[in-house]
Amino acid sequence: MSYVLVEKADRIAWVTLNRPEKLNALNNEVLQELERVFADLEQDAEVGVVVVTGAGEKAFVAGADISELKSLDTAGARVQALGGQAVFQRIESMPKPVIAAVNGFALGGGCELALACHIRIASENARFGLPEVSLGIIPGYGGTQRLPRLVGKGVALDLILSGEMTPAADALRMGLVSRVVPLADLKATAEKLAKTILSRGPLALRSALAAVNEGSEMPQEQGLQYEAALFGLLAATTDMQEGMGAFLEKRPAAFKGL
Ligand code: COA
Repeated sequence: MSYVLVEKADRIAWVTLNRPEKLNALNNEVLQELERVFADLEQDAEVGVVVVTGAGEKAFVAGADISELKSLDTAGARVQALGGQAVFQRIESMPKPVIAAVNGFALGGGCELALACHIRIASENARFGLPEVSLGIIPGYGGTQRLPRLVGKGVALDLILSGEMTPAADALRMGLVSRVVPLADLKATAEKLAKTILSRGPLALRSALAAVNEGSEMPQEQGLQYEAALFGLLAATTDMQEGMGAFLEKRPAAFKGL
């Protein structure tokens, strides 16, 4: 049975981490499947938005698989971290929006997976945390880098050094997630958001992701230049003519990605 399920409908790919008996913990097999799935989805012209969620009602992902981590030596642990980082880097670098629909525990590698997604929405029962220090390790799949960039160094260090879990409502206040809804509404909320995004200009979406993701790694002056260059490129597109024409003609835009 597959650990990563993919269902496609209406240009949305639903990626479900499917190991509920272990709270969807990320063993190496899951990571490899996740990598393959995202490589395929990146190339899939029929997919415009990806939603990542966890099977069951209890967990998004409860972390890297502790039973696998326990036997690692120094060299192996470094390689393990680099391997997990590479999978999550692929997700963050996706040229199409990736939404994490966090339906329960998002701990350790699960929190780091959510951090690598572009947008995080959560159910009210979701719990976020980086409990690695309680295991004698640190977050190794990007948590020490992405969390401070998202919520600021002080809040990130609170979570990383305490190892405590944060309820969804607090995660919302911190800016760790952008929306919190009852669990029963999570899928519909993710779908509605995905459909709204899909109604926008696809080239603009790709450029916006690049501007934010790559620009945030640049000095601001360079980021502004990059933004202006992308803005300029979009002015050459049929989609820009369509988007602005549709506004002026008071009709919905029909973007073609050209
Ligand atoms: N790695 C491996 N197995 C895990 C796991 C993980 N990160 N998280 C949960 N599991 C397994 C449990 O060992 C248990 O397996 P078992 O039924 O074969 O014993 C199963 O998933 C259910 O978890 P359980 O602990 O019984 O559920 P709970 O409701 O009592 O507690 C958590 C839920 C999330 C609080 C608890 O599972 C937990 O703390 N998990 C580890 C979180 C963590 O430290 N993640 C960071 C890893 S680097």
